[in-house]
Amino acid sequence: MSLKIAVIYYSATGTVHELAKEIAAGAESEGAEVRFRRVKELAPAEAIASNEGWQKHVDEVHPNVEEAVIDDLDWADGFALGSPTRFGLPTAQLKQFIDQTGPLWGAGKLAGKGATVFTSASTPHGGHESTALAISNVLYHWGAVIIPPGYATPEGYAAGSPYGTSALTGPLSDVVSAAAKAQGVRLAQITKKLVA
Ligand SMILES: Cc1cc2nc3c(=O)[nH]c(=O)nc-3n(C[C@H](O)[C@H](O)[C@H](O)COP(=O)(O)O)c2cc1C
Repeated sequence: MSLKIAVIYYSATGTVHELAKEIAAGAESEGAEVRFRRVKELAPAEAIASNEGWQKHVDEVHPNVEEAVIDDLDWADGFALGSPTRFGLPTAQLKQFIDQTGPLWGAGKLAGKGATVFTSASTPHGGHESTALAISNVLYHWGAVIIPPGYATPEGYAAGSPYGTSALTGPLSDVVSAAAKAQGVRLAQITKKLVA
């Protein structure tokens, strides 16, 4: 039976989407079956249309990525959750998805799963760590086994995002891209041990 990893994220303008792709690629390189999913967009059409990059992402990327459902968390042995920062917190879109996990949590289905987080912000000190930690708060409540990048790999050490790989808005640098991939590898490797 192959290892099952879900990469679930929200992205408005594509940065977190790119991080998610690297994390998924890392998990797949360890032989995992990956469900790559975006959470539902909740913003009104006029808000999306007011930002060219956001509209482009909705038009060009959304049709190619399945929407996350709660069953994806039940299915997965381990998962990665990602969101851009919104004033130091994750987006309402990711939170809305999280807020639907009550029944799964109540049934104890999320306890013991491997879990890791990732994020993005437009400024170097604009809330990367607080957003990663805010998403991680949920993982404590679920009883998930948090698998942070730490400085546990050369790629993670170079990026220096121990709470979860984080990017500045825009195309990923080589360093961040490698760190996100290494985070996916590490998620898969440690989740494999949990499943065993
Ligand atoms: C409402 C709102 C609040 C934001 N708050 C912050 C913030 O506090 N600090 C920051 O650096 N960037 C902030 N940003 C910028 C995004 O987090 C950033 O552009 C991120 O890289 C977007 O990721 P995406 O391309 O995956 O959508 C904010 C953006 C929006 C729309």
